[in-house]
Amino acid sequence: MLEATSMLELRDVEVRFNLKRIGLFGAVPQLRAVDGVSLSVQQGETMAIVGESGSGKTTLALAIARLVPVASGEIQMGDIDLLGLTGESLRTHRQNMQFIFQDPYSSLNPRLRAQDIVREPLDRLAIGSVDSRNQRVQEMFEQVGLRQDQLRLFPHQFSGGQRQRIGIARAIASRPSLVICDEPVSALDVGVQAQILNLLRRLQKDLNLTYLFISHDLGVVQHMCDSIAVMYMGKIVEESDRESLFNNPLHPYTRALLSAVPSADPSRRNREQRITISGDPPNPIDLPPGCRFASRCPMVEERCKSVEPILTLREKSHQVACHLV
Ligand SMILES: Nc1ncnc2c1ncn2[C@@H]1O[C@H](COP(=O)(O)OP(=O)(O)OP(=O)(O)O)[C@@H](O)[C@H]1O
Ligand code: SF4
Ligand SMILES: [Mg+2]
Repeated sequence: MLEATSMLELRDVEVRFNLKRIGLFGAVPQLRAVDGVSLSVQQGETMAIVGESGSGKTTLALAIARLVPVASGEIQMGDIDLLGLTGESLRTHRQNMQFIFQDPYSSLNPRLRAQDIVREPLDRLAIGSVDSRNQRVQEMFEQVGLRQDQLRLFPHQFSGGQRQRIGIARAIASRPSLVICDEPVSALDVGVQAQILNLLRRLQKDLNLTYLFISHDLGVVQHMCDSIAVMYMGKIVEESDRESLFNNPLHPYTRALLSAVPSADPSRRNREQRITISGDPPNPIDLPPGCRFASRCPMVEERCKSVEPILTLREKSHQVACHLV
């Protein structure tokens, strides 16, 4: 049974991709891009999913949106079993969930005017009358800090930050309850990043949005999220509320990611040393039997190479998968 405030709940979700067969009679290699992920996202809060390239963050988001096949597990949004939805009910439900993508240059149709880009989900989902949709688009422009005289411009007539504002307006136009932000500021300059993060925070408060916020950079999410899940090779290796994760990171991989984040607090800055992770990650289609981080972990022990650590609750709402913790 779901907790009263939990709006999205994942249990043991697995996504596998079948890759190209090697040779004529070889087996079809399988890549487990998401491997037994369980998460709980609370209404009105932001959960960050952090991890390096290829860790499975986008695939997890696509699984929640039912845009890749889920091999096993459960996904519930409110009291709806997302994996049980088909046809019309799936389509209707998608209204509740929207994406903001990384690259505002390639994610907006260059042939459409800004107003039509923002309107598109309203038309597709047949929300309201034609007049009310026009009205909604104008409101969205105002809400994301774009001017009314920009309604009829094309994407190339906007700056990168403004384009991301169009992407945000499009995402919130259908009044979704969940917004999946997939690296929404990674393609932007640092100054513009801060403006967009502030905008996302304000919209969350005004519209009671729940965010799943994907980033490879803990620095970006440190002022943005309520809780954080750190992913490595398809698995969550640490999950916690923000404060506990930043003050007391437990997994060696999280510590390495965190040591790369410049600290605003001078006392922390002096205490911290940059931890560099050397070595290569394992081949995702031929994973080692033990800990997936063993080939790069500065703390690795013999048992790490044969026994896989399980995600375990260590402190109140702080889970970690590491033998040494
Ligand atoms: N359609 C697909 N077919 C086969 N493999 C895929 C497919 N999509 C993703 N993968 C693989 O799944 C793994 C996870 O990819 P994913 O895009 O989810 O990572 P990510 O964490 O979002 O990375 P990035 O930070 O680079 O966006 C990678 O090894 C990737 O190559
Ligand atoms: S289980 Fe071992 S290899 Fe894996 S993170 Fe912990 S110490 Fe490192
Ligand atoms: Mg991605």
